[in-house]
Amino acid sequence: MDDGNLILTGFMGSGKSSVGVKLSYRLKIPVEDTDKLIERGEGMSISDIFEKKGEAYFRQKETELLRGLAEKRQGRRIYSVGGGTPVDPVNRALLKRLGTVVWLRIRPETAYQRLRDDTTRPLLQCADPLKRIGELIGARREAYESCADLIVDVDDLEMEEILRRIERGIGHGIGNKK
Ligand code: S3P
Repeated sequence: MDDGNLILTGFMGSGKSSVGVKLSYRLKIPVEDTDKLIERGEGMSISDIFEKKGEAYFRQKETELLRGLAEKRQGRRIYSVGGGTPVDPVNRALLKRLGTVVWLRIRPETAYQRLRDDTTRPLLQCADPLKRIGELIGARREAYESCADLIVDVDDLEMEEILRRIERGIGHGIGNKK
C-alpha cells in the first residue's frame, strides 16, 4: 500500500541506511531497515542467517517481509532495503507497490573503498571483493533501474547534497503529501 512511503535501494555501501536515518529526521517520518527487521525476526545476524540457513532462505524472508509491508497500512515510512532485494522481479513489484523507489547508484570502485574492511556482508567475503562487486553491480543494474523512480549518483556527493536531491526529486518532501 503506497502511503507516500519512500524506499531506498542500491548496492551495499551506497548509504541506504545512513541516508534513511538522516531523511527520517528531516522529513519527520519513521525509518525501517528491512535487513534489521529480518535479523530481529530471525534472532540472528545476516551473516549467521546466510551461514546457518543459506542465501535462498534469506531471500525468502526478504520477499515475505516486503509482502507483509506492502499489504499492511502502518502509516508513512522510509524503508531502506537490502542491496539484493530488487533482483527478484516479485520483490520489484512489491517495492513499486510500497512507494516511491530511490536508487542510490554507486560505482564498483566506490563501493569497494567503503566495504574493503567490512566483515558483515557475506557475499563479499571472498578473495577478490572488487571483482565480485563489479560482477554483482553489473548483473543487478537493470533490476535497480527498472524499479527506480529516482536515481541519485552518490559517489562524489556529500550527504547533504544526496538528501537535497532526494527531497527535490520526490517533490518537496513526501512528508507534505497527504
Ligand atoms: C545483500 C546486501 C545486504 C544484505 C545481505 C545481501 C546483497 O544489505 O541484505 O548481505 O545481496 O547485496 P546492504 O545492502 O544493506 O548491505
